[in-house]
Amino acid sequence: MQVLKFWNTSKQKLYKPDYRLIAKCASSTKAFVTTPIYYVNAAPHIGHLYSTVLADTIRRNYILHGKDVIMSTGTDEHGLKIQQAANKRNMEPIEFCNQVSESFKTLCKAANVEYTSFERTTNKHHKEAVKALWNKLLLNGYFYKGKHEGWYSISDEAFYTNSQVQEVIDEKTGQKIMVSIETGQPVEWTSEENFKFRLSAFRDRLLEWIEKNPTVIVPSNRRNEVISLLKLGLSDLSVSRLRSRLQWGIKVPNESEHTIYVWLDALTNYLTATGYPWLKDIKNKDAFPPDVQVIGKDIIRFHAIYWPAFLMAAELPLPKQILAHAHWTMGKQKMSKSRGNVVNPFQIIKKYGADAVRYYLVRDGGLADDGDYSEEMIQTRYKKDLIGQFDTMIHNQILETANNFNNAFEDREFSKAYSYVFDMISQANKYFSDNEPWRLAKNPEDKERLDTILFYSLEACRVAGILLQPVMPSKMACVLTRLGVSSDKRYFKDATQFDLTKRPLGETDSVLFPKLTMT
Ligand code: ME8
Ligand code: MG
Repeated sequence: MQVLKFWNTSKQKLYKPDYRLIAKCASSTKAFVTTPIYYVNAAPHIGHLYSTVLADTIRRNYILHGKDVIMSTGTDEHGLKIQQAANKRNMEPIEFCNQVSESFKTLCKAANVEYTSFERTTNKHHKEAVKALWNKLLLNGYFYKGKHEGWYSISDEAFYTNSQVQEVIDEKTGQKIMVSIETGQPVEWTSEENFKFRLSAFRDRLLEWIEKNPTVIVPSNRRNEVISLLKLGLSDLSVSRLRSRLQWGIKVPNESEHTIYVWLDALTNYLTATGYPWLKDIKNKDAFPPDVQVIGKDIIRFHAIYWPAFLMAAELPLPKQILAHAHWTMGKQKMSKSRGNVVNPFQIIKKYGADAVRYYLVRDGGLADDGDYSEEMIQTRYKKDLIGQFDTMIHNQILETANNFNNAFEDREFSKAYSYVFDMISQANKYFSDNEPWRLAKNPEDKERLDTILFYSLEACRVAGILLQPVMPSKMACVLTRLGVSSDKRYFKDATQFDLTKRPLGETDSVLFPKLTMT
């Protein structure tokens, strides 16, 4: 029990780390984006999809800037509520976890989210990372054993003090129960001897870190919330539970009576994702700390207080940004399974396609304030922005091409003139293939949309056909005949406007440009 000598020695010297460690890794060329790891006690819903899509959009934006980027997501699988959820279904916890964890992966796939690591807290390498962090915190003198009393919420996996709970009447049973004021979740009184982390030692350093780094917690309403929490003061944090109460978790090293607190376990996933403790797997070591950690406002305390405190205690650099978004509500109410107002993300992706859903979530999601989910709004965004603006683009380009072509031609800038025509054709090609008219053709409801796409695609060909006649007279005659354009409608002025008349398509007998065999 050599490690045990570190507790309860009053002379113990605490290692005093420097929050400026943050600057050390700032020059890394690899960006690191994270999502929370989600509890597997329930199926993924639209809120989970929001955080994940937001992170993936930030990841893709780093790529746009030529950065190498890694992104982690995953599932949080230990703790009492998972143990209970598995029991309820008569399943082994791990069997149950495998199943739900898989559905979070499937959601990423459906939403076109590309992570580089999917962390499950039941993975062997994660357990090793948690133990390594535990030992480091112990060694640095930040744990002691003490009696802990307080109200514990299984659903929140958090302790509350007397002032953070209240008595209410349970809607279902009519009985008086104690709940957390913040989350409304039931709590129970617990009193046990467990390991405590000297969180109180970090209050000043946390405040200094946040004050010196104004964008380290965004948006600013969340930053202010954390500052007020810190100003109220911090008490030490209980970081283990008796194994007799909680079996489904990682054992405290060398202490078979104790299980590591789920939040210490879960937060370590961001280290696991980079190969911590970096013994053999060091390829992503320089990606730590994360550049952006996307979370919901419900878990800000764990990410903006506990997590940086653990990191400081372990002499590790702090995250560069915690992006704590607000929540999606439904009919202005909190989404919850019991109210039956959770949105199934798979269904809406199936209905509107991944890109439209991604765009809606990021565009209309509540960052500072809650956003109310409405399927009608997806439809409005879809019609107004996606269809409307993209059609406007091709519409304008077709209309502008004739005059642009002509001005360049008059200036005898032939190369430029023809590039206008071919830019338009390539834009039309993209428009055509992006909209997948062959898919729309299968659904009678999409007929109007299909007609729009075919109209612009054919108009682009007609305009190009007219403008290219002088240089390629025989081929373009073919094109125009095929498009049913009569010979009196093949003049410049015809290329400056849309032709709304219905024309029967003409016949041609040959491929326009047969493939060349070059020798
Ligand atoms: O808290 N609107 O997991 P969790 C927006 N395992 N986002 C929402 C949302 C809503 N209505 N509901 C959930 C946990 N989210 C822990 C995290 S991390 C080390 C451990 C999103 O399954 C949001 O990101 O309860 C929120 O923080 C997260 O899902 C909570 O997921
Ligand atoms: Mg939750």
